[in-house]
Amino acid sequence: MSDLVKLAVIYYSATGTGTQIATEIARAAEEAGAEVRVRKVAELAPQAAIDSNPVWAAHHAATKDVPAPTLADITWADAVIFGSPTRFGNVSAQLKQFIDTLSPLWQSGELADKVYSGFTSSGTRHGGQETTLIALYNSIHHFGGIIVPPGYTDPVKYVDGNPYGTSHHAVWGPELGSIDDDTRNAARHQAVRTVRIARALKLGAIRSAAQVNA
Ligand SMILES: Cc1cc2nc3c(=O)[nH]c(=O)nc-3n(C[C@H](O)[C@H](O)[C@H](O)COP(=O)(O)O)c2cc1C
Repeated sequence: MSDLVKLAVIYYSATGTGTQIATEIARAAEEAGAEVRVRKVAELAPQAAIDSNPVWAAHHAATKDVPAPTLADITWADAVIFGSPTRFGNVSAQLKQFIDTLSPLWQSGELADKVYSGFTSSGTRHGGQETTLIALYNSIHHFGGIIVPPGYTDPVKYVDGNPYGTSHHAVWGPELGSIDDDTRNAARHQAVRTVRIARALKLGAIRSAAQVNA
């Protein structure tokens, strides 16, 4: 068993904010020595709804080649970082639909003992960011997962101010779909911390297995 941490970043994004955060998390995790898979869950909205918003339509087209997650990605991963824009203070239907396909892995116990964390964005300044992350983490409790929130474990967290996960205020306008340095820094810290904790758990499992077999 290798101590290389495998991280799956599984997210939904309509207008690109989530894609930017996922990209930053993936980059930082790879720099921290993890193997990373970035997966965007399937769109569920009708094409007419997508086409009614030019930013959504453009982002939908631009990300059409990002692979959708499979159950095998979850089985493969030591750590999973989920991301969803807030939808009325809750997880998007698109991400939730994927989570709801995980039942077979839940039944076989394969969701347990992995490390999980989450990120979000909202159209207003706070707008349900923390409730969205807590709603996401409800499911992780049912998995028997190990939630690794960023807390205030780094000075950057006093800047973005969300101890539950990375979050961004996605302002409607020309900047929609981009993130600023505060969010980028929070995403990087979350990625590195998640990889570090997952690595410590993996090393611990390897060492205790070696002791049992000695
Ligand atoms: C159905 C729906 C519900 C939303 N609910 C909220 C909300 O409760 N609070 C908020 O601030 N923004 C809300 N928004 C705005 C989105 O959260 C925002 O557009 C999103 O964070 C942008 O992320 P993305 O670029 O990754 O799609 C909502 C948007 C939609 C379409």
